[in-house]
Amino acid sequence: MIALDDVLVTAYSPDPDGGADRVVRLLGPVTLELAERRIAIVGANGSGKSTLARLLNGLVLPSSGTVRVDDLDTARDGAAVRRRVGFMFTDPDAQLVMPTPVEDVALSLRRLPLTSTERDVAARAALARLGLADRAEVPVHALSGGQRQLLALASVLATEPAVLVCDEPTTLLDLRWRGVVDRLLDDLDQQVITVTHDLDAALRAQRVLVIDDGAVVFDGDPADGVASYRALMQVPT
Ligand SMILES: Nc1ncnc2c1ncn2[C@@H]1O[C@H](COP(=O)(O)OP(=O)(O)OP(=O)(O)O)[C@@H](O)[C@H]1O
Ligand SMILES: [Mg+2]
Repeated sequence: MIALDDVLVTAYSPDPDGGADRVVRLLGPVTLELAERRIAIVGANGSGKSTLARLLNGLVLPSSGTVRVDDLDTARDGAAVRRRVGFMFTDPDAQLVMPTPVEDVALSLRRLPLTSTERDVAARAALARLGLADRAEVPVHALSGGQRQLLALASVLATEPAVLVCDEPTTLLDLRWRGVVDRLLDDLDQQVITVTHDLDAALRAQRVLVIDDGAVVFDGDPADGVASYRALMQVPT
């Protein structure tokens, strides 16, 4: 289970008057235990959702307080945390490092005890699962934005993380592939924590967190959470 204890995230911001940098609060203080298998995080642009998501695998470290993943502390055991908690970025280019899809997924598989042939077969199977079988050797930069997002998901799933944190996993996808990815995420055995602007996806979670101005302003039942977010955004239900 992931547990945040009194977590505060701050950053330095330049003083427009040329004085010393000021400390600004990005998130917190937040105390949470994240045990449900499906958790959705919703909120306005700039509210702190990605900051919260990145705390969960140590991509962002707390300025004070602690984030624990089972027996691991994200500040002390970052590499072990990232093996346990996979992260899918909003922008796939932040995550894709190899020239071709098959190489990118194979890189994700490097820790598994596989021969290079087995790794290649496993990488192609992971690509096929996301409709990218015929794109395996196409240069990554030539893929469409949606195809790159599917590739990013294939690469992170290939590592078989115990927990998957997805930051807007379907933002770039057309209706058909959004449905495919939604079903795939819904069917995974592992815990999935998703930042999303897709309120239908949020409604399928077991628990919804609403973030506003760096604070958790709602935590609980998805239907109530989505209603509270709509009210916050002054959108009629
Ligand atoms: N390192 C940083 N230094 C200064 N400000 C930061 C830093 N990281 C994030 N912020 C600010 O913190 C706020 C929250 O950012 P965050 O990326 O968590 O928002 P978000 O809820 O994910 O928004 P979006 O829906 O647009 O993705 C934003 O105003 C952002 O500019
Ligand atoms: Mg974000």
